[in-house]
Amino acid sequence: MKNRNIYFALALAILLLVFGVWLLTFFRSTLATKRLAQEDAAVKQSAAPPSARPFFNPPRPEDAPENIRAEVMLGYKIMTETKKYAGEYSKNDLSCSSCHFDGGRSLNTISLVGVGATYPRFRGRQDYTVDLAMRVQDCFQRSMNGVAPALDSQVMQSLLVYMQWISKDIPIYSKLPWALPADLGNPHKADLGNGGKVYADVCARCHGDAGQGTPIAPPLWGEGSYNDGAGMHRVSTFSVFAWRFMPKNAPSLTQEQAIDVTGFVNARPRPQFVSAGPDKIKRVIPLPEGK
Ligand code: HEC
Ligand code: HEC
Repeated sequence: MKNRNIYFALALAILLLVFGVWLLTFFRSTLATKRLAQEDAAVKQSAAPPSARPFFNPPRPEDAPENIRAEVMLGYKIMTETKKYAGEYSKNDLSCSSCHFDGGRSLNTISLVGVGATYPRFRGRQDYTVDLAMRVQDCFQRSMNGVAPALDSQVMQSLLVYMQWISKDIPIYSKLPWALPADLGNPHKADLGNGGKVYADVCARCHGDAGQGTPIAPPLWGEGSYNDGAGMHRVSTFSVFAWRFMPKNAPSLTQEQAIDVTGFVNARPRPQFVSAGPDKIKRVIPLPEGK
């Protein structure tokens, strides 16, 4: 009788032990599977291709993280009030925003959203690869008819931080659908007489009878304007800009009118670009044959 009880207790103990061990391994394995599944999902997510189409949604300067906010805000002010915040480098009456509306944050302009993700890159004008700082220096020397801010200047650094911020979430080297096309693709030859008429009828009320600018719009030619080395001085760029964006907020020109008024404005006097140094640096890595 006593022996049977002992055997019974022993059997029960062994059974409990086996059950316990089984229980332990069961939970450990389900936990492990769960964790593996989680890890798997994480890996899948990180390996997912970036969205093929960059999305236009630039963040506001004031929403920048605290550690960069002051510089982002200063960069934005330099863009929109260039004379006040970068007067030592800019020698005309324009702001960067005269052409890159709202500090380049607008879609209906030469937008700068994404430049932080698409430089450095090769540029035909220089015939070598330029980074964003060199590109900014170029707009100072030509579009602002001024002098290039040094890389370690407050102005340059703030502009770079600002442009990087408004390029947030744009995949590196993605093709930006909002980039300005090189030209209108229209073979029309400029008729300067008609261009003068378009100017007087459509543009003069904002830009002034003599292209000198008014309190509501910047100058288009003369001492206060961009120089003849600027991108806007190219017939192709000016005509695309005028056709797409002018008058501001209510573009109304036909392509032919845009080309005519381009011819007219381009024939007016403006400051001359003076190269500060050799504009061409010998390319270190030659392009493959035929390029
Ligand atoms: C008179 C008009 C004008 C003004 C003013 C101007 N820019 Fe530009 N900017 C242009 C044009 C035109 C381009 C070339 C656009 C193109 O061909 O894609 C350009 C291009 C750029 C680019 C490269 C954009 C890209 O997508 O590759 C940067 C960066 C830039 N400008 C910064 C500035 C800054 C900073 C200022 C002020 C210091 C400024 N710009 C003032 C007309 C202007
Ligand atoms: C309703 C007023 C208005 C009219 C009309 C207008 N513009 Fe503008 N334009 C502006 C403003 C404002 C800006 C500067 C944008 C800013 O600072 O946000 C500008 C900027 C420009 C610029 C780049 C900056 C510069 O001064 O070089 C060009 C080029 C330009 N306009 C061409 C034209 C042409 C060509 C016409 C006529 C077809 C025209 N605009 C008609 C308001 C106007």
